Parts: sequence; C-alpha cells; structure tokens
Amino acid sequence: MTDLVKVQFHVNGRPVKADVPTDLPLLDFLQEELGLSGTRLCCGIGVCKACTVAARRVPTSQAQPMLACSTPVALLQGQSITTVEGTGSMEKPSAIQQAFLDHFAFQCGYCTPGFVMATEMLIERLRARPVRPDQLDAAIEDAVGQHVCRCTGYARYHQAIRAVVMAEKGLVTA
Ligand code: FES
Ligand code: FES
Repeated sequence: MTDLVKVQFHVNGRPVKADVPTDLPLLDFLQEELGLSGTRLCCGIGVCKACTVAARRVPTSQAQPMLACSTPVALLQGQSITTVEGTGSMEKPSAIQQAFLDHFAFQCGYCTPGFVMATEMLIERLRARPVRPDQLDAAIEDAVGQHVCRCTGYARYHQAIRAVVMAEKGLVTA
C-alpha cells in the first residue's frame, strides 16, 4: 500500500488540504483533484517547461518556477502555488495573455500556459529589480529560453513579452 502524507498549501489563493501518496506529481493533483486542466503535461521529465507553475515558499516571497510534472505534492507543505488559471480567464485575459493573442505568439497553444507563467514571474522580478533597455532581451531569454515550443513560436513569444514589459512603466529603466 502507498504511504499517504498530509499536506496543506494554497492554489490560486485557495487553501488545499489533502492526504496524498508521497510520489503523486503536482500536475496530476491539479488536474484530477482540483479540476485545473490548464497546466500541461508534455515531456513529463522536467525538460520542456510546459508544466511550469509559480511557487512561493511564503505568500510574500518572490515566486519561483516549479515544474508540476516532476514535483511531488507531498513537498508543498505551506507553499502558495499559482497556475495559469490564477492569472486570467477567457473573459478577462491578463495583460500577458492578451499580448500573446495580439502577437499571434502561439499556434496549437500547448506550451502557452508555461510561457504565461514564466512571463508572470519575469514581470514580478522586473518590478523588484528593473533592468536597463540593453539587458531586456537577456532577461527574457533567461525567463523563457528553456521553454520548448514545438510550433516554434519563439520569435513571436519574445516580441509579445517585450511588448508587455515595455507597456508597464518602471520595468525597464534608462
Ligand atoms: S511536462 Fe514538465 S517539463 Fe515537460
Ligand atoms: S504553440 Fe504549439 S507547442 Fe508552442
């Protein structure tokens, strides 16, 4: 019989309490227990970043990328997780989601939730530590350069991210 672990954490601001198998991946828990299907399973081995969510050790700490395919829920005690569902909706897309739409950044869209989450975290970092204009491309590359898009939308994602960063005052300083 699989051992169960008690875990309490937050998903998109909502408290979650569960007894989970020690090896249950966060991705399975999000999709099957919470009905949050936006986080995508692609490679399943921590390479493509499609399953990226944002994790905070405490609610006020800076969000860090977490790969939901390879992170056991049992390790999330006390953390706060944000998934793509926590950033915007069909009716009210976030600024990042709107920029991806405006720039035709994606085709099939399978990789898009991962790009959305990585861009959310990039913008949060830039709010805390703005960059010079000549550093912006490197900051974008650092945020999403490891994300795989099988439809090869890389250039348009980059353009969309650049546009959404430049549209918010104070993220890039002269
Ligand atoms: S599905 Fe998690 S990194 Fe590819
Ligand atoms: S838009 Fe299809 S994988 Fe990226």
